[in-house]
Amino acid sequence: MFAQSNEECLDCHSDKDLTITENKIIKSLFVDEELFNSSIHSDVECIDCHVDFDPDDLPHKIGTNIAKVDCNECHEVENFSESIHAEKKVECFDCHSKHQIQEASTLKMKGPDFCITCHKKS
Ligand code: HEC
Ligand code: HEC
Ligand code: HEC
Ligand code: HEC
Ligand code: HEC
Repeated sequence: MFAQSNEECLDCHSDKDLTITENKIIKSLFVDEELFNSSIHSDVECIDCHVDFDPDDLPHKIGTNIAKVDCNECHEVENFSESIHAEKKVECFDCHSKHQIQEASTLKMKGPDFCITCHKKS
């Protein structure tokens, strides 16, 4: 199998100027190593989340070969799939972020201010 360490991935992905152009949109491929390593996912491997590709091949993203990350591989968030958020395609990472996970305690501390980042006060 293609076992690559986070260090190896970050050899390239800690470059702030690394980008990819998809549908004419320039997307950053930068991952902040410091923020990742200080997050609750610091012990999670990049390849635990990013599956179905061989990172030794460059380019390693060909079409849709890199699977969309499935958080539920490790977490069972009850009832999320039936929620209005799932229905409206709000992603886990829209709330928790991708690489610097916002924990439940952090989000709870923000209280309504957090919800208001998407829901305007009326
Ligand atoms: C907890 C799961 C998780 C881990 C661990 C993780 N990622 Fe990601 N990453 C995501 C999600 C979610 C996305 C958004 C795209 C998707 O859903 O597939 C993403 C997107 C990316 C992208 C595309 C650019 C972007 O920001 O959207 C790159 C590059 C990337 N990750 C690299 C890495 C590297 C390198 C590591 C290890 C240091 C890593 N990822 C660890 C969940 C993860
Ligand atoms: C030699 C440099 C290099 C290494 C090592 C590397 N990447 Fe990449 N990565 C790139 C480049 C360049 C792209 C964009 C073009 C391509 O697919 O090669 C990319 C694309 C990606 C994407 C797709 C982003 C998107 O949404 O379009 C993900 C996810 C990703 N890499 C994760 C990883 C992970 C996880 C590792 C370690 C297992 C890794 N990369 C190792 C250079 C690298
Ligand atoms: C609309 C924003 C939002 C979305 C989308 C969301 N979460 Fe959360 N999540 C929260 C908030 C706020 C908390 C803390 C409050 C609570 O525990 O109810 C939380 C708590 C959690 C926790 C810790 C508590 C527990 O239930 O175990 C985990 C793990 C988690 N979320 C993972 C996920 C995953 C995985 C997804 C996608 C399937 C997801 N979240 C989607 C906002 C969100
Ligand atoms: C490879 C397994 C794995 C995957 C995939 C994964 N996580 Fe985690 N996650 C963990 C581990 C391990 C912890 C730390 C132990 C714990 O609290 O469950 C954690 C903790 C968390 C927490 C903190 C829980 C709390 O009580 O505050 C949140 C939030 C979270 N993950 C969200 C996500 C989201 C969002 C994704 C998808 C982008 C994801 N995780 C994907 C393994 C994973
Ligand atoms: C990342 C953006 C985002 C965040 C953060 C977010 N939401 Fe939402 N929420 C949405 C979207 C998109 C919808 C779909 C309905 C819409 O168009 O407003 C929605 C719908 C809802 C609905 C159903 C409303 C209706 O009119 O049917 C409720 C209730 C709700 N959210 C509560 C919350 C709460 C509570 C929080 C904080 C824990 C929160 N949301 C945080 C994006 C978000």
